[in-house]
Amino acid sequence: MMKNIKEAATYIKSQLNYTPATGIILGTGLGGLVKLMKIEKEISYDDIPHFPVSTVESHHGKLLLGTLNGKKVVVMQGRFHYYEGYTLKQVTFPVRVMKLLGIKQLFVSNAAGGLNTDYKIADLMILNDHINLQPDNPLTGANYDELGPRFPDMSQPYSHSLLKKGLKIAKSMDCNVHQGVYAVVPGPNLETPAEYRYLRIIGADAVGMSTVPEVIVARHMAIPCFAVSVITDLCYPGAIEEVKIEKILAAAAKAEPFLTELMSKMLSS
Ligand code: HPA
Repeated sequence: MMKNIKEAATYIKSQLNYTPATGIILGTGLGGLVKLMKIEKEISYDDIPHFPVSTVESHHGKLLLGTLNGKKVVVMQGRFHYYEGYTLKQVTFPVRVMKLLGIKQLFVSNAAGGLNTDYKIADLMILNDHINLQPDNPLTGANYDELGPRFPDMSQPYSHSLLKKGLKIAKSMDCNVHQGVYAVVPGPNLETPAEYRYLRIIGADAVGMSTVPEVIVARHMAIPCFAVSVITDLCYPGAIEEVKIEKILAAAAKAEPFLTELMSKMLSS
């Protein structure tokens, strides 16, 4: 796999004349950040050696290279999910490639169900921790010592300083921004009421189907992470209703300008 990661990174570097400092992974319906970008190069995932190819319709499979808020970034427009049938090693392959491109921090967004009764649709939640409920881990098998240790520390999955900065920026925004714990499930089905209750009891504030594998792999490589959930449906008693992908996308669209503002302001020092 190291050889594949290096080949993918070499291909991308051959089209680049700078080092992107920040990697950004955009979640379902949250691609609007791209409009603020000065794009210098777009590379379809299909063209990158060994890259998995995205299969979900609401996702575009492109790597975008350019500047955002004056800072060099590499943006994944479209990500890979466990529920699509990829292994977690495939899901996280691009994060390892981004490390070789030189990123120093990783920003991630996702759509999530709100378990915390304080949350409303289209609120944002900055992740301060996570619970991995997927039946696999991207780091099983041989350890790539050149990337990180066999038993990586997870005492600070989300950078405290990035979280602090995010909460400070959020204060000036006209949007509810919380901090909380994200539980990741395998999907693709949404949860039953009993499962939502279980997730609340174990301490999750939001639930989704992404982000955690990418963050585990990033932390293995000691990359500081910042992640934000857009709350697209409510999962507590009295608020649970049938979830439709259209509703999730509509909620994502409503919150998207705020997410974009937050992510872009996070880049200014
Ligand atoms: N559960 C799991 N994943 C999700 C949800 C949810 O309620 N909403 C958006 N992604």
